Amino acid sequence: MSSHSQATPLGSPGPLGVGILGAGPVTQAIHLPSLARLRNILEVRHIMDVDSAVAESVAARVGAKHSTSIDALLGDPDVDIVAICSPTSSTRTK
Ligand SMILES: NC(=O)c1ccc[n+]([C@@H]2O[C@H](COP(=O)([O-])OP(=O)(O)OC[C@H]3O[C@@H](n4cnc5c(N)ncnc54)[C@H](O)[C@@H]3O)[C@@H](O)[C@H]2O)c1
Repeated sequence: MSSHSQATPLGSPGPLGVGILGAGPVTQAIHLPSLARLRNILEVRHIMDVDSAVAESVAARVGAKHSTSIDALLGDPDVDIVAICSPTSSTRTK
């Protein structure tokens, strides 16, 4: 496996902040490991899930904050990008 360094985005003082909406199996097994390989340019900062236990435990794994509220996620000043990872027929958010 290559271990070459990654540059930060041009003009950016550091990595962009990523928020995750929906922290189910796909987020845990696919997206978070992929994002970890891009940590020089993308940093997971906020995990939001309607299931508070899932939000808290997944956030703890990546050192991010957590919530069950879409407003908290979208209003988080540390979040630049939101990845929508909830099911297509979804539970209502708070
Ligand atoms: N599982 C697969 O193999 C697979 C493959 C390709 C694509 N996908 C797609 O990826 C997405 C996620 O898959 P998954 O298997 O992790 O889904 P999942 O349903 O198992 O988990 C999704 C998570 O989203 C949370 N959630 C539900 N509604 C929400 C809402 N409104 N706001 C915030 N969180 C909410 C749930 O509590 C759960 O923790 C789905 O759209 C699925 O169709 C899944």
